[in-house]
Amino acid sequence: MVNLTGKTQLLGIIGAPVEHSLSPVMQNAAIRYLKEDYIYVPFRVAPQNLETAIAGLATIGVRGFNVTIPHKQAIIPLLSEVTPTAKLVGAVNTVWRTEIGWKGTNTDIDGFLSPLKPLSRDWTKITPIILGNGGAARAVVVGLAQLGCPQIWVLGRNQDKLEQFSQSWQNTDLADALKVYSWDKLSQLIRETTLLINTTPIGMYPKIDQSPIDPSLIEQLSSEAIVYDLIYNPHPTQLLQKAKQKGLMIIDGLEMLAKQGAIALEIWLEKPVPIEIMTKSLRNYLNLD
Ligand SMILES: NC(=O)c1ccc[n+]([C@@H]2O[C@H](COP(=O)([O-])OP(=O)(O)OC[C@H]3O[C@@H](n4cnc5c(N)ncnc54)[C@H](OP(=O)(O)O)[C@@H]3O)[C@@H](O)[C@H]2O)c1
Repeated sequence: MVNLTGKTQLLGIIGAPVEHSLSPVMQNAAIRYLKEDYIYVPFRVAPQNLETAIAGLATIGVRGFNVTIPHKQAIIPLLSEVTPTAKLVGAVNTVWRTEIGWKGTNTDIDGFLSPLKPLSRDWTKITPIILGNGGAARAVVVGLAQLGCPQIWVLGRNQDKLEQFSQSWQNTDLADALKVYSWDKLSQLIRETTLLINTTPIGMYPKIDQSPIDPSLIEQLSSEAIVYDLIYNPHPTQLLQKAKQKGLMIIDGLEMLAKQGAIALEIWLEKPVPIEIMTKSLRNYLNLD
């Protein structure tokens, strides 16, 4: 956004709460850099108002928007079209206008894969362990399958939710690849993985002293292992600090956050966008440097 005028176009994010979202920071940084006549605005939308809200966003000519908690699943039946990957994940985080109405996709998968794809690993020989079975874990499962991992192990603390998670993939191509385990199985499984991914919020600001796993378990990881924590604040988390001390490769959630946002902005603007500007704006905002 250079100057707000009558021609300025609207982008935004809907959620409840939406105050915590860092998307306005990075999206507006990229928009300013590109000198595009757009502005990206947070919209607090309560669950009961979702349908009215997206009809209203169409009426006022919003070009596209991101979707955050708690609307990522609920929005699917309200859209005219949903990409196959978003259907598979069961969640939409990016929406844009087409001639027939709103179309939705999920950019978290490519965001998650962004730091992994350049690595020269034989993913077909890796069985990743995912800690947690919430919304982000779903995008991670689809991403790992795209990468070529033949088996994916998901660990959760709540047996009922874990079963539901497992069931939700039953009629998909991922049914055979996915195995779910209770959290206490980690000590038996950890030696067999070289990719450990935390999708729980344990260790996230302000509870920065917490770690999803005991440091003694990190000692059991092979020296080849990568530890990937989706959390981006603090930077690094306790989990990543311990993994780094052991000399392991670590990946935090910042690149995923910037990349999923950059892909969304590319969809809306139909042109390449400066991801490094978006990452820099996040780092500045979070005082990470
Ligand atoms: N870097 C990025 O771009 C990016 C993108 C998405 C998410 N994230 C991060 O990923 C994390 C999860 O997000 P989400 O949307 O997936 O949340 P979510 O849907 O609430 O899922 C959280 C998962 O963590 C589990 N969990 C929470 N506390 C736990 C504990 N003390 N012990 C064991 N398991 C626990 C939950 O278990 P129950 O189901 O039993 O409650 C659930 O399976 C957040 O920190 C978020 O910031 C980062």
